Amino acid sequence: KRIAIFASGSGSNAQKLMEHFKRSNDIEISLVLTNNADAYVLQRADNFEIPTHIFDKHEFYKTDEIIDLLKNLDIDFIVLAGFLWLIPQNLIAVYPGRIINIHPSILPKFGGKGMYGDHVHHAVMAAGGTEGGITIHYVDENYDEGEYIYQARYKIDKSDNLEMVKFKGQQLEHQHYPRIVETVVKKIKK
Ligand code: GRF
Repeated sequence: KRIAIFASGSGSNAQKLMEHFKRSNDIEISLVLTNNADAYVLQRADNFEIPTHIFDKHEFYKTDEIIDLLKNLDIDFIVLAGFLWLIPQNLIAVYPGRIINIHPSILPKFGGKGMYGDHVHHAVMAAGGTEGGITIHYVDENYDEGEYIYQARYKIDKSDNLEMVKFKGQQLEHQHYPRIVETVVKKIKK
């Protein structure tokens, strides 16, 4: 089966996915797409010799070019890994139950529009919480609202700063995202 990753930034999760599936016989990361021509994820994809595609708002929201590209490459499944734009309805319709995302909090807490990256960790710390976490979920047409697939938690110590909290969250993401993606993709029909 063939996976496309959408990412907007560094792509450390994309990196873990590319490493994980490099060893797989039946699942492949076949394409990396981004809205950000400067995203480091492009370099990471190049390192794995995975094709990339850069698009703009017009292409993503006003045309079927991305859908055509995904179909032409026979993509079965879409993984969002730090992708910051809302997925349009026409794309969801072509991949029902076949798009998942990872979010750096225990949803529904600290989710929704504007809640990404450091904003989430700031909010978690400002709320004085003693635990953080991650959520892997199906994607629908709203930010961070599809059905949850997996959640994991970590402890926030009083002495933790933002970097520490972020690091703990990232570790959990890297540990779980590849295996959860694998489990979900194995279940879908080609
Ligand atoms: C992760 O924290 C993920 O949960 C969120 O965006 C971040 C992406 O980080 N959706 P990276 O680009 O994979 O390093």
